[in-house]
Amino acid sequence: MKNEERNRSIEELIEEMDLHKEAPEEEPFRQYYFIKKARAYYQELSRQEGRPLTYCVTTFGCQMNARDSEKLSGILEEIGYVEEAEETKADFVIFNTCTVRENANQKVYGRLGQLGHIKKSKPHMMIAICGCMMQEAEEVETIRKSYRHVDLIFGTHNIFKFAELFTQALQSHKLVVDVWKDTDRIVEDLPVDRKYLFKSGVNIMFGCNNFCSYCIVPYVRGRERSRNPEDIIKEIRQLVADGVVEVMLLGQNVNSYGKTLESPISFAELLRQIEQIEGLKRIRFMTSHPKDLSDELIEVMSQSPKICRHLHLPVQAGSTRILKEMNRRYTKEDYLALVNRLKEKMPDLSLTTDIMVGFPGETEEDFEETLDVVRKVRYDSAFTFIYSKRSGTPAAKMDNQVPEDVVKERFQRLLKEVQTISAEVCKEQAGTTQEVLVEEINDHMDGYVTGRLSNNLLVHFPGDESMIGQLVKVSLKESKGFYYMGELVH
Ligand code: SAH
Ligand code: SF4
Ligand code: F3S
Repeated sequence: MKNEERNRSIEELIEEMDLHKEAPEEEPFRQYYFIKKARAYYQELSRQEGRPLTYCVTTFGCQMNARDSEKLSGILEEIGYVEEAEETKADFVIFNTCTVRENANQKVYGRLGQLGHIKKSKPHMMIAICGCMMQEAEEVETIRKSYRHVDLIFGTHNIFKFAELFTQALQSHKLVVDVWKDTDRIVEDLPVDRKYLFKSGVNIMFGCNNFCSYCIVPYVRGRERSRNPEDIIKEIRQLVADGVVEVMLLGQNVNSYGKTLESPISFAELLRQIEQIEGLKRIRFMTSHPKDLSDELIEVMSQSPKICRHLHLPVQAGSTRILKEMNRRYTKEDYLALVNRLKEKMPDLSLTTDIMVGFPGETEEDFEETLDVVRKVRYDSAFTFIYSKRSGTPAAKMDNQVPEDVVKERFQRLLKEVQTISAEVCKEQAGTTQEVLVEEINDHMDGYVTGRLSNNLLVHFPGDESMIGQLVKVSLKESKGFYYMGELVH
């Protein structure tokens, strides 16, 4: 978009679209045209029903998907739809899917089946499905054959076309399917509807080039593409002007940000530039791949008053042999040395991780190496997963899969170790006073709010709605294992 156009609101640009003319070719204008077209349909449908129509976006998977869902909501709100929390009650339901593990797919089919029954008594209801699972041809086939109540299917690469595809589905009353194999495009300046007023995810890159042998993400999200730093800075400036104080920079491997740009810049340099944005108080990012974490980044982090003292550094496994089979491109020793460098510069840094149990060929000795890393690093918390065979990935073809009972037993041992250590780590901070971003009213305790520490842990303390979105000082009175009870310090 040209500069003078950037300064006009999306609403003004939609207003100017002439529906008597052909849709413009250029993005994002083409989508504004379809938003306007969908509005006309919406108004007619809403008139027939005699009430506003509602939508529900159901998100599975990672923060990347959560951000994509905010983009879907943004477009639906522009069209006129009103949010409805329960998918069984909404007029338009869209599932934004994940396919990283087998059970993620099963969950989607369960919910989709349920909606099929509801749609029988609500014929005007529309159902769409998008996201990572739709990048797999066999899943699209399953839906075509067995879930015929679905109206629209699209993938991860053409999510920017949602307004256009949605309009097509509204018009045609037939299943619309549009899934792209890959893309090198990034479309900027589409509407977004944020879940929180005071914090926001910000995509800095899309896709992944790492091809860890167990992982489906590179196949469903395509090759790595970084957004231009100017576009990122501009988006964050607008968010701050709109009340955001904390951003979470998102990418599958933020440490390789900028490498493929026309004028390459490092992730550390991007952070330096974001740090300069006035009014922005906190910066987070995920995910960091250990192989690409530079000393420059450690330097920038340790000097920064805004970058949170938290790093999510997925280890996956402790055995160097297994790490090699996983194609992670670091050894156990590399990982531990990196953790030492980080802790030397930032003794108060909170580390979290992802760990997988039962990768093909994992022996008891390999698993002990994982436990050893957990004991040495002492993570604040860890997401633990049972290895799931994803067809299409190299690991799915490995023939030495570990028996289920062995995996389950190891998983329980790992969980116990992780939980014991994180409770101990959490306790170390009890008694200190920390800066907290108040996020929400506590659902379980009257008169309490919940806030997030720089290290990403939560604290519950007496407070009210007026505090939401503010940074306050809280004394951590008591550690409850993985969260705290606290008191406001004036
Ligand atoms: N880009 C991030 C991870 C994205 S997927 C990174 O490299 O760290 C999130 C997590 O899901 C991974 O860290 C991994 O622990 C887990 N995961 C990915 N593929 C999996 C599989 N086939 N089975 C089980 N867990 C898996
Ligand atoms: Fe998957 Fe590895 Fe890419 Fe992470 S870095 S998304 S685990 S392939
Ligand atoms: Fe899942 Fe796709 Fe994220 S597979 S983990 S939603 S990138």
